[in-house]
Amino acid sequence: MHNSYFDNAATSFPKPPQVAEAISRYLNEEGGTYGRAAYERVRNATMQVEDCRDALAHLLGVNDAENIAFTANATTGLNAILFGLELKLGARVWVSPLEHNAVMRPLRHLQETKGLEIKTLPAGNDGSIDIAALESLPANDCDLLVINHLSNVNGVIQPIREIAQIAHTKGWFIILDASQSLGEIPVNAGDWGVDFIAFTGHKGLLGPTGTGGFYAKNPSLLQPTIFGGTGSLSESYDMPDELPDRFQPGTPNVAGIIGLLAALENRPMPQHTHNDFFECLNAIEKLPGVRLYKANNPEQQGELFSLTHERLSTGDFAQLLYDRHGIETRSGLHCAPLAHRTLGTFPSGTVRFSLSPYHTPDDLAYLIKAIADVTTL
Ligand code: ALA
Repeated sequence: MHNSYFDNAATSFPKPPQVAEAISRYLNEEGGTYGRAAYERVRNATMQVEDCRDALAHLLGVNDAENIAFTANATTGLNAILFGLELKLGARVWVSPLEHNAVMRPLRHLQETKGLEIKTLPAGNDGSIDIAALESLPANDCDLLVINHLSNVNGVIQPIREIAQIAHTKGWFIILDASQSLGEIPVNAGDWGVDFIAFTGHKGLLGPTGTGGFYAKNPSLLQPTIFGGTGSLSESYDMPDELPDRFQPGTPNVAGIIGLLAALENRPMPQHTHNDFFECLNAIEKLPGVRLYKANNPEQQGELFSLTHERLSTGDFAQLLYDRHGIETRSGLHCAPLAHRTLGTFPSGTVRFSLSPYHTPDDLAYLIKAIADVTTL
């Protein structure tokens, strides 16, 4: 039996078994809300939520765990940052050419309501930021950079350390969208000096859907965008200043966060090497009629790539892979029309393959054979 699930960029599967066990234990045995009372059941649930926040701070490379607020996913985290910043009228925002709609739709709304100016950063034909060109941009051209760390279309990893360094020299804020990267590749936000990060729990972190969050290096730059009860300062109609309460009203997804904690504590050893992945990529690239979309520089390649075929549409290709070999992929635009415009694959998109640590070299060999079969049809 092969692991034929190659849609981990949409949501990872399988999860470590401890994730479901922890959620089941919480729902069936432990129970308890978050931070709203002092009895044992609540203390236990609250402690697990805070342990998860601490584990995430460690993973993000930051010390101030209270500056992380839980949200439902990276999209809600990005909204909390982009709207919470209360950008001034006509603010200038530069985005990477590989952004997805979790960034582009809120920005579009701000463009319409606040006259935001949105520009695309200079980049190579794979969407990787051209660092020299970035460096030569006049400081007063930009207020804020939004950078997708690992593209959900071609797997390009952007050099965030260099980008953040330039941003700080020029006085620009930087938002790191770690939707696809956290759990997959190292994120050292503290060291890099990133201002804001949005992340999700259900992709590279192998946690449940409905978990995620954002981090703010300087939370005083953000206004809350959701208002409500926090169990603290309840006598006031104003949101408390205290963190993380200021950005985390309402009962959080305690079951999901406990599942995410179990995922962080039980991450599997990868069952294939990065070299196995590259061998797979090289083998697929040689197949007739196939065009791969990947990083130009192998050192900037995450374990995700796309393809198009000279004869078959992306929808047909994905359907044939599934019908004939059970390979599960996502085809089309992957909610990232800007990335596809950059790569020249708009509007038909690509067929995307995204790996997880659970894939073995045998699974990759099976994938190569399945793609080879479809290319001969
Ligand atoms: N952004 C997710 C994907 O790429 C949903 O599939």
